[in-house]
Amino acid sequence: MSEPIHVVVMGVSGSGKTTVAGILQDRWGWEFAEADEFHPQANIDKMHAGIPLTDEDRAPWLKLIREWMTSQEKAGKSTIVTCSALKKGYRDVLREGGAPVVFMHLDGDHSLLASRLAARTDHFMPPSLLDSQFATLEDLTADELGAVVDIAGTPAEIASQIEVKIKELTHDSARTSAVEPAEATANVGLYGLGVMGSALARNIASRGFKTAVLNIDPQQTDRFMEAYGSQGEFVPAKSAAEFVASLERPRKILVMVTAGAPVDSVLAELSPHLESGDIVVDMGNSNFRDTRRREVAMRQRGLYFVGTGTSGGEEGALTGPALMIGGADAAYEQLRPIFEAIAARAEDGATCAVHVGPDGAGHLTKTLHNGIEYADMEVIAEIYHLLHGAFGRSNAEIADLFEAWNDTELRSYLLEISAAILRYTSDGEDFIEKVSDRAGHKGTGAWSSMIGIELGVDVGMLVNSLLARFASASKTRDAWPALEVAPYPADAFGVSDESLREALLLAKLVAYTQGLGVIRAASDSFEWGIDLAGVCRGWRAGCIIRGAMLDDFANVLDGGADPASILLSSADLVEQYLPSLRRVVAAASLAGAPSVALGSALNYLESVRADRLPTALIQAQRDYFGAHGFERVDMEGKGFHGPWHD
Ligand code: 6PG
Repeated sequence: MSEPIHVVVMGVSGSGKTTVAGILQDRWGWEFAEADEFHPQANIDKMHAGIPLTDEDRAPWLKLIREWMTSQEKAGKSTIVTCSALKKGYRDVLREGGAPVVFMHLDGDHSLLASRLAARTDHFMPPSLLDSQFATLEDLTADELGAVVDIAGTPAEIASQIEVKIKELTHDSARTSAVEPAEATANVGLYGLGVMGSALARNIASRGFKTAVLNIDPQQTDRFMEAYGSQGEFVPAKSAAEFVASLERPRKILVMVTAGAPVDSVLAELSPHLESGDIVVDMGNSNFRDTRRREVAMRQRGLYFVGTGTSGGEEGALTGPALMIGGADAAYEQLRPIFEAIAARAEDGATCAVHVGPDGAGHLTKTLHNGIEYADMEVIAEIYHLLHGAFGRSNAEIADLFEAWNDTELRSYLLEISAAILRYTSDGEDFIEKVSDRAGHKGTGAWSSMIGIELGVDVGMLVNSLLARFASASKTRDAWPALEVAPYPADAFGVSDESLREALLLAKLVAYTQGLGVIRAASDSFEWGIDLAGVCRGWRAGCIIRGAMLDDFANVLDGGADPASILLSSADLVEQYLPSLRRVVAAASLAGAPSVALGSALNYLESVRADRLPTALIQAQRDYFGAHGFERVDMEGKGFHGPWHD
């Protein structure tokens, strides 16, 4: 254990010192105190009344803080203290002990501080006192141990800057770690021990890799070690510095945290400790544009950033996920042995860890995997709803039917779990009846539609499957008197079980054509060179949309064929099954059951097969009111105008 040291995080009210100190405490596990808690009641009363404190008022307060620091120091403990510490004389009091006291002054734009303070409702310091704080503030002098840290970044970034500065000031990297730095023997690190991260860490360690683990809340690391520590070789770390120090070079760090700002915080926390050539992999459901931004920023620092889509839920993460990897070849080659060891394998033994392309290619592919997932789930659910609500079939009968379909070319994980779900009972009732129909969504479904629209790809099924979730939880629906789906005889429109199966099959062909169409368009736009056949082969096991049809799709797409060939190569089947899809959608409409995704699939097929579409009139309308011009069917060329205004 290092000798005790005190870190005083100082700054005026609104500088964020408490939040930053809290993060440091989480990382280092040191004793922590807020200086404000040591104020005698008389001082608190004065501050409440808006009266600035005098030096005399502050003397007993500073003494109490220093006494606390000394008591911790005597017990061999380091501390973090948050304190306004405005004058050098005050800091001198806090320095009156044996152990070094480092002052980290959080400073920045004064108008930003004032606006932060004005927004506060939970603090006894009225904003008017900020001016007096600035007036009293004395900057750190050259003979004081300390540094100024800008408050512009996120709290995690500021905390990381503090870690680096303390290392520089004390020339001791062990200071900011609660324990001695570990030897660099871990093969890989896993940051983020939530449900998915824990499962991944266990999977990696179970394949013989020594795995360092770190979590923002160190207590979760303790819980993880208690539950699973004996299942493999783990190196638990309490701080980013310790975590990174435990990894062999080049370091390979997998990050499994919530997409969005948490990923940036983790990168800010890790980066100061990393060295050129180290690799950070974001395994979460990140937006590919964020991944591209992060990849550039990391590359400029000589680091590799690899955006990897991970599919398969908790079970997949534990036993074998599908991985859609986006990053530089050199980084992938380093990661390959780990990824191939932990990923699922298709029946032919091929790995489902697929390096699909550079930077954002992996996360874009995962996003479209999820877009297809939404569509696949929605069509199964619509068929279930029609069978149950309109045709009066029991849950067990529908489970039988889905199981039977699962023995055909429709075999898929989602169909299999749908059948399984329908068999669960509780208190003598089918459990599905207890599940609320208000559907959730976390982002990837919306992104898959948005990028498709942006790139001009028809993603009707993906969009509608997302909108079906929106409708299920809409305010309009809340306000509407509930209506049951009207019982409707299945045979009134000749809706046989087989026609439902055929409708499902066609809808799946459309969903994959659209989803893969977006991947192709993005790949062309960003020059990623994604091999769609390889993507489909990687989806054959481990992921949520795994199923028998993926082998066929891969074969069709081999050699770089356009995703439209999924439908075109099945043109005969489409003609054969289309009457079934029409009947199913018509029956659903007559029964009053939504067929948002099935109807969308049908409309897509009707449109792409049509000899002539309503859009001829659209073109004429556009030209009529805006002289936008059109092409003619009877002449070559563009930019024709109608006789409207002659
Ligand atoms: C997977 C899943 C997984 C995720 C999605 C979708 O491939 O393992 O796609 O990444 O569960 O949760 O989430 P929402 O339905 O909540 O958007």
